[in-house]
Amino acid sequence: MPARRLPRLLALLPLALAAAMSAARAEGPIRIGLLLPFSGPYADYGVEIGHGVDLYITQHGDTVAGRKIELIRRDVTGVAPDVAKRLARELVTRDKVDFLAGFGLTPNTLAVGPIGTEAKKPMVIMNAATSIITEKSPYFVRFSFTLSQIVTPLGEWAAKHGFKRVYVAVADYAPGHEAEAAFTKAFTAAGGEVVGSVRIPVNNLDFSAYAQRIKDAAPQGVFLFVPSGEQPIAFMKSYVDLGLKEAGITVLGGTEIIDQAVIDSLGDKALGVISAQNYSSAHGSAENRHYVAAWTAAFGPKPKPNFMSVAGYDGMAAIYRVIDKLHGDIDPEKAMDEFKQIRLESPRGPIEIDPDTRDIIETVYIRRVERVDGELVNREIFEFPRVKDPAHAP
Ligand code: PHB
Repeated sequence: MPARRLPRLLALLPLALAAAMSAARAEGPIRIGLLLPFSGPYADYGVEIGHGVDLYITQHGDTVAGRKIELIRRDVTGVAPDVAKRLARELVTRDKVDFLAGFGLTPNTLAVGPIGTEAKKPMVIMNAATSIITEKSPYFVRFSFTLSQIVTPLGEWAAKHGFKRVYVAVADYAPGHEAEAAFTKAFTAAGGEVVGSVRIPVNNLDFSAYAQRIKDAAPQGVFLFVPSGEQPIAFMKSYVDLGLKEAGITVLGGTEIIDQAVIDSLGDKALGVISAQNYSSAHGSAENRHYVAAWTAAFGPKPKPNFMSVAGYDGMAAIYRVIDKLHGDIDPEKAMDEFKQIRLESPRGPIEIDPDTRDIIETVYIRRVERVDGELVNREIFEFPRVKDPAHAP
């Protein structure tokens, strides 16, 4: 080789090395960091979302576009933004994940946002539900719901179905504030009156004083949002013990207040509770019947799949679709473009991602706890199709 060609070849070396490294990388596993509470008061998020993710992988195999899928689970333990931040940093820098996913609670999700943005990692939200989150990073995409999206239809429905006087009780953190504002706006615009309101600390587990205040205000209903977990069960206990049910005060749930696990722990006392949500395990579609059957075969009859489980399942379906479309070569910008095109027939009904907001468009169901074929379930009694998050509206 002529000596004068050598410097040119040497100059090309870094490029060749980079190409070889990226080819090697494209043959290794695709890593997904799953950040969720797997312990502590919100451990059921890890169970429900984790099972949804696992079920999708079991059904569809752990290789996509020739690349193995490696899940790395990290336990954020509760409302713990600093823990979430530290774990996200490790996932990005040490584990070199291609996607971050999970995201159960708003405060943790907001804390991780800047890390995902800086590292350019698509962040697939499988629960956290405050509207503002997706505005905080172009790498967020949401497969759950937003509080405004769910409780706006509920407020409208309640005012049009005989509820004129309602008390509003919410957890005192961002999702609670959003639920309070959205319900109040929709309910009063449709002619209802809010007769009192209270914000409850997010870790509170004794609701007796709050339940008494609500009873004293003698409303027809109480609109309640507290995060899924131990709080809904604790509230419902006080609701029953203090006689709010006998006093004719109906619980109108913001989403998770009457999840199937809450129904199971309350028994007949749950009868009549009304809630709005994007999923009920009693949903009557063929997709859902298959989903519930596969879930039961994999994990047993309890817990039943809930709204978090379908967000895990659908979020994983979307990640698989994106990897496939990109032929296994994960460029973050191209991945986000693909997420914006997602449309799926979910166990909850049809879903799509709004390309302008990266938030989900889905059916919101109004459900009432009833006994169907001997079982207590959230039976769908009304539906609002293709609901977008109203909080993002200009
Ligand atoms: C949230 O923190 O965003 C959150 C948590 C639990 C829910 C809904 C929203 O059930």
